[in-house]
Amino acid sequence: MGFFFRRKEIKASAVPETLPRHIAFIMDGNGRWATRRGLRRENGHRAGAKTFREIARTCFQRGIETVTVYAFSTENWKRPKNEVDEIMRLLSSYIDEAFSDFKNEDAEVRFIGRREGLSPELQSKMDKLERASEGRRYRLRIALNYGGRDEIVRAVNRLIECGEREVTEQMISGALDDSKAPDPDLVVRTGGDTRTSNFLLWQSAYAEYVFTKTLWPDLTPGEIDEILSDFSKRHRRYGGL
Ligand code: IPE
Ligand code: IPE
Ligand code: MG
Repeated sequence: MGFFFRRKEIKASAVPETLPRHIAFIMDGNGRWATRRGLRRENGHRAGAKTFREIARTCFQRGIETVTVYAFSTENWKRPKNEVDEIMRLLSSYIDEAFSDFKNEDAEVRFIGRREGLSPELQSKMDKLERASEGRRYRLRIALNYGGRDEIVRAVNRLIECGEREVTEQMISGALDDSKAPDPDLVVRTGGDTRTSNFLLWQSAYAEYVFTKTLWPDLTPGEIDEILSDFSKRHRRYGGL
């Protein structure tokens, strides 16, 4: 249990001095949140979408430049078709609202992940949102049909297509879906499981991790402040002393 972040030990305080520049969320636990309430899993995804907006807004308000959220993995296609369809419908309606939603926060939205396999309508909405929000101050990255291994393989193939025969770490970093944002300093997984589930494998080489048992729809700005306070006390050595 020591691996888990213990809520009561850390008091919420003012925004700490050492903030992550980039925070990434594995938004897990929507299904269990709904099941525990006797609701269908889809209701959990709807509640999770609301939490996502509140948490992203909180992070920007605290001054974190980049927020990445894991919305749908390359493995999530294994789920029953009706759940996948409902998640895609929710994402599509979220994108419609996002045009105005993150304007106030001055956030640029970009999607990472494999476009192939998503409906043409969804892809065109994603393109439009990216264009409309380009150049804004804060960055919101939505990992959709995303897998860390898949992203690395696509990056290497892009380099091969460009005629490269040998690759360097810098070249791979530069060929990933989003080469603009810095690597995540902090990855937060809700829902109680302590694994990465194929999220940002390359970029998280030296990320700090926080695992909380809180289910994603129950995550609050108060717990974000506690997590940020915990992060500010960590000593990152990057292999040094
Ligand atoms: C995360 O919540 C959202 C997606 C993977 C799309 P889950 O749907 O995995 O919720 P649990 O883990 O089953 O509770
Ligand atoms: C990870 O959650 C993917 C997302 C949050 C989108 P999963 O629920 O798919 O992960 P596993 O299956 O428990 O590893
Ligand atoms: Mg899950």
